[in-house]
Amino acid sequence: MTMLLPLFLLELIFSATEVTFALANPKSGCLDKCGNISIPYPFGTNEGCYLNKSYLVECSASNRLQIGENGTGVLDISLDGQLQVLFPLAYMCYDRSGKLISSSSPDVKPSRFPISSTRNKFTVVGCDSIASILGPGQMYITGCHTSCSRISGAKNGSCYGVGCCQSAIPEGITEFDFYLSSYMWDSNVCRYAFIVEEGNYTFSWTDLRNMPKVELFPVVLDWAVGDTDCDKAQGTQNYVSRE
Ligand SMILES: *[C@@H]1O[C@H](CO)[C@@H](O)[C@H](O)[C@H]1NC(C)=O
Ligand SMILES: *[C@@H]1O[C@H](CO)[C@@H](O)[C@H](O)[C@H]1NC(C)=O
Ligand SMILES: *[C@@H]1O[C@H](CO)[C@@H](O)[C@H](O)[C@H]1NC(C)=O
Ligand SMILES: *[C@@H]1O[C@H](CO)[C@@H](O)[C@H](O)[C@H]1NC(C)=O
Ligand SMILES: *[C@@H]1O[C@H](CO)[C@@H](O)[C@H](O)[C@H]1NC(C)=O
Repeated sequence: MTMLLPLFLLELIFSATEVTFALANPKSGCLDKCGNISIPYPFGTNEGCYLNKSYLVECSASNRLQIGENGTGVLDISLDGQLQVLFPLAYMCYDRSGKLISSSSPDVKPSRFPISSTRNKFTVVGCDSIASILGPGQMYITGCHTSCSRISGAKNGSCYGVGCCQSAIPEGITEFDFYLSSYMWDSNVCRYAFIVEEGNYTFSWTDLRNMPKVELFPVVLDWAVGDTDCDKAQGTQNYVSRE
């Protein structure tokens, strides 16, 4: 009983206020860093070190911090309730004859923590593309389409439909898969869809032909327990209905 008490107290404090996370791990001997990434409580790598299984992380032999069944890479755990992770992108590439030569359309189910609706954007790069993300049951979550009929309108840094488009992510999304398609014949091009932390990706029209070999983009998840009103308070505007 006495062994359990500190953890129980911590949980109380923990749900009462988010400021007290800096308290030490509930047990000594918990790994508090993986490489140079801090692992603050409620996260932990061993039983007794994490609050519950949702906060279980793993530090690989190569000092890669991971969360969830499929080892989603973690870049940062911040005490203000955000977790920066790495998500894969979806892509389709065609050769000169229009044959699909490579593609990937991963299912992304990193953890139980929702994708921050205020810190990330769904982004599509390509010509004449339609892309969206789908939730459980193939439920439509959000999406956008691009055109390249006015290729001269494709400006570096501008992502408003010519060669690049972005849309907002609704609250509460924890898993999704990609839908990526085109409405024109494709030759010698690739198209990409991904969720990315706002500010991390800047469109360059050279990406239409030759996207730098990025396979993972940083995405921010909200991990704080209980009600976080910050997402509700800020821009929930103009996302597409999930019905
Ligand atoms: C951690 O180390 C990597 C390379 O070893 C570096 O790129 C990164 O900026 C470091 N992160 C922090 C938070 O210091
Ligand atoms: C872990 O704890 C949080 C906060 O108390 C709770 O919302 C969540 O459902 C728990 N998860 C598991 C797997 O027990
Ligand atoms: C892990 O990956 C496998 C194979 O891709 C998939 O079937 C499973 O749903 C994934 N689990 C999670 C929790 O993402
Ligand atoms: C985007 O995120 C990755 C991973 O954290 C980082 O290495 C890269 O420098 C970032 N790029 C920009 C432009 O912020
Ligand atoms: C756009 O950026 C790329 C590099 O990312 C550069 O090579 C190209 O010249 C730029 N184009 C314009 C029109 O600024």
